[in-house]
Amino acid sequence: MCFVSQVWLVSRAILLMWISILQLPQSIAAFGETKNNVKTSIFLSPKFELGPGSVANKYFFDVDFPRGHVAVKSFNAEVVDEVGNPVPLYETYLHHWVVQKYHQPKNVTYQYENISWVRNSGICQDDILQQYYGLGSETRKTDTLIPDPFGVEIGNPANIPKGYDEKWFFNVHAIDTRGVKNRVGCTECRCKLYNITKDGNGNPLSSDYGGGLECCPDESRCKLRNGFQGPTRTLYLRYTIKWINWNHFVVPINVYIFDVTDTLIISNKSKGISPKHDCQIEYQVKPCIKDHKNGNGCTFVNKTSIPMPKGGYVIYGVAHQHIGGLGSTLYGQDGRVICSSTPRYGTGKEAGNEKGYIVGMSTCYPKPGSIKIFDGETITLEVNYSNTKRHTGVMGLFYLLVAEHLPNHNY
Ligand SMILES: *[C@@H]1O[C@H](CO)[C@@H](O)[C@H](O)[C@H]1NC(C)=O
Ligand SMILES: *[C@@H]1O[C@H](CO)[C@@H](O)[C@H](O)[C@H]1NC(C)=O
Ligand SMILES: *[C@@H]1O[C@H](CO)[C@@H](O)[C@H](O)[C@H]1NC(C)=O
Ligand SMILES: *[C@@H]1O[C@H](CO)[C@@H](O)[C@H](O)[C@H]1NC(C)=O
Ligand SMILES: *[C@@H]1O[C@H](CO)[C@@H](O)[C@H](O)[C@H]1NC(C)=O
Ligand SMILES: *[C@@H]1O[C@H](CO)[C@@H](O)[C@H](O)[C@H]1NC(C)=O
Repeated sequence: MCFVSQVWLVSRAILLMWISILQLPQSIAAFGETKNNVKTSIFLSPKFELGPGSVANKYFFDVDFPRGHVAVKSFNAEVVDEVGNPVPLYETYLHHWVVQKYHQPKNVTYQYENISWVRNSGICQDDILQQYYGLGSETRKTDTLIPDPFGVEIGNPANIPKGYDEKWFFNVHAIDTRGVKNRVGCTECRCKLYNITKDGNGNPLSSDYGGGLECCPDESRCKLRNGFQGPTRTLYLRYTIKWINWNHFVVPINVYIFDVTDTLIISNKSKGISPKHDCQIEYQVKPCIKDHKNGNGCTFVNKTSIPMPKGGYVIYGVAHQHIGGLGSTLYGQDGRVICSSTPRYGTGKEAGNEKGYIVGMSTCYPKPGSIKIFDGETITLEVNYSNTKRHTGVMGLFYLLVAEHLPNHNY
């Protein structure tokens, strides 16, 4: 135990050295009279261990993050092994990672005492999809850099209650598919492969729930090929954050996450009727062979309409899909395209280009000001999957970064 933590300290020291080397000005963006020094910080999550077929769904509190009042410009991540080598998706499938913000009283005695989550700008119900950042297998080849002068504002003392600290939380969900019987089935968390029939509360899963997060909880195991054996590995999520110190030229942006499973429920609160979002995060793609092919070929199309309480200028957009994904588009109320994002599938063996996996998503960078969402506008999210085969536990999320105003000077 002691030995392990020594190694950890040494590797942390090396890491800190790297970080200080890397904190060189990377790009000089000129607007007004200022120059922005973009800093790059590389951190490792706490470690997690995986043997063949096993699942890690870990919650890490108070993870390393840039401190102080800063604007985050980009956020990338990947799974690495103990010596820092990238691990390919067919060995360790990165199902998802998400980063959430919380406030915590300064004098707590344990790591998650009295925390209060500080969610993004929406739009699902409380507790759901609250994160600021988060992707999955596509994280190596997906652009996340936010153009100048925009940034995600963090650490503003004015937004942190007195006596509290702003902290960051990670959820990492990874599946080791070395030696498994059915790689895609394991990554799609098929209940049969995990021999799971009940949810986390012990209630039986419905018969049409073929797979999803209920069936690949932490420390569960996917079915291996007969007799397969392999070593347990120690892994980390290595994450790279680019950021600048906050200054008055930076324009803050709001982070929205839309979910194609979002349905609006009109609830009847004492204060009148208020619509409530119900996001399920995951859904099932039924195969087309058995279904009626109503002229759609073998494309499973889902749509949802989402009223945006507050509008603004679209700065960046990206979708999140799983294997089978064909693309996703956000439309305005008048039918205009706000952003379209399509998956890029790998074609080789190396990490970042693994054949058959989604290794990147295309992104949208509209010229700031060119795409505006109006206050109260209803936007529509369309998400397509191929359903020549069945898929379980797929996602249809869309991240949209929106600025409420544009910079009031030219640059
Ligand atoms: C945590 O919350 C409990 C219950 O509300 C309270 O009694 C306690 O003082 C809080 N601790 C801190 C450090 O704020
Ligand atoms: C935390 O504890 C220190 C020392 O016990 C005390 O001076 C300080 O006021 C406490 N802060 C809060 C927010 O309770
Ligand atoms: C599946 O789980 C059941 C109980 O939950 C257990 O009895 C059975 O042996 C398991 N099957 C396999 C193949 O692990
Ligand atoms: C809402 O509540 C009121 C009174 O509490 C009731 O009369 C009404 O039928 C409810 N409406 C719905 C849609 O449930
Ligand atoms: C997706 O669309 C299909 C029909 O095209 C429908 O049966 C299914 O319920 C939809 N799923 C979700 C999550 O909206
Ligand atoms: C989804 O599929 C439908 C039907 O094939 C097509 O009209 C639409 O353009 C597709 N949308 C995206 C985002 O790929």
